[in-house]
Amino acid sequence: MIGKFVSRDLAVDIGTATTIVYVQGKGVILSEPTMVAVKDRGGKKIPVAFGREAKSMLGRTPEGVEVIQPVRTGVIADFDIAGLLLNHVICKARKESGSLFRPRVVVGVPSGITEVERRAVEESIVTSGARDVRLIEETIASAIGCNLPISEASASMVVDIGGGTTDIAVISLNDIVCSVSLRQGGTNIDRAIINHLRRAHKLFIGERTAELIKITIGSAHPSFDDQRMEVQGRGLSTGLPSGVVVNAREIREAIDEVLMSIVYGIKQTLESTPPELSGDIISSGISLAGGGAMLKGLDKYLAEKLGLKVTLAADPQNAVVHGAGLCLENRELFASVLK
Ligand SMILES: Nc1ncnc2c1ncn2[C@@H]1O[C@H](COP(=O)(O)OP(=O)(O)OP(=O)(O)O)[C@@H](O)[C@H]1O
Ligand SMILES: [Mg+2]
Repeated sequence: MIGKFVSRDLAVDIGTATTIVYVQGKGVILSEPTMVAVKDRGGKKIPVAFGREAKSMLGRTPEGVEVIQPVRTGVIADFDIAGLLLNHVICKARKESGSLFRPRVVVGVPSGITEVERRAVEESIVTSGARDVRLIEETIASAIGCNLPISEASASMVVDIGGGTTDIAVISLNDIVCSVSLRQGGTNIDRAIINHLRRAHKLFIGERTAELIKITIGSAHPSFDDQRMEVQGRGLSTGLPSGVVVNAREIREAIDEVLMSIVYGIKQTLESTPPELSGDIISSGISLAGGGAMLKGLDKYLAEKLGLKVTLAADPQNAVVHGAGLCLENRELFASVLK
């Protein structure tokens, strides 16, 4: 009975696309789009839906309702709305874990954020009911979540492809040796698909349809070229509902520019890696994480472009929150990697 009242600490990854919560001793209990639907009432934004429910309203909101994505390219851009979402998910997690006490929260943050942004994240989490907040750099959390031996003197490389960013880092002795953060991620792939349909098929589609095309037939490698799907949207010249069949090859070609920028970012990071550590990466290879890493054939594509071994994480989208969660379970990790 006492166990029921013990405080259960939380790990939170509030990403551009997805917010994920891990409860100590339980694992991931919540994964929702980072979206809040709000109604304007006398200049004040009142939340009407969070997460999945808010996402389902995207592109189809009634008048007066707006769907807001408070995180832009990995960084909280709208603290009021992010605070509402954090409060919502932290309350949900506390209810689910049956914990009466205010939890300690470990939260993932991008490596490049400023001191002011750090403080704003801490404040948002404390206001949402946390007793203590610790920050962890997302690439380090991602590497821990990929089971990489980050505390050893040999180097590991992780590439986390999220919704708004791709974070690339070489890690050794619990620290980042060199890193590159690109403002390119799954959202840019969706945008490339929207542009392609407009240009090649004169069809106007929304973000949700573009993401569906990416997940259904999108790929990085020609071995998936034979797939096709029917897509509905609005005809550009007629303005009327219309449908076309698209194939995987044209989608692959349409998104190649985004994929090439990821290859370029990895090459840049490898070029600034000290030579002694480059040798480690030849033997250990690259670990791929983040929801964007689930694009079909991406591991094969990167392995061919870079001539290195590429391993997709077992649970790519949850790698950051798993890594942050493992810090709650392991005192040594907690002491060595948290800020
Ligand atoms: N099966 C899939 N194939 C391709 N892309 C996918 C798949 N599943 C999810 N994604 C994409 O993964 C992205 C979200 O990944 P993730 O949740 O890791 O991002 P995030 O952590 O919220 O963003 P960031 O790290 O940039 O702040 C979205 O663009 C989504 O469309
Ligand atoms: Mg992320």
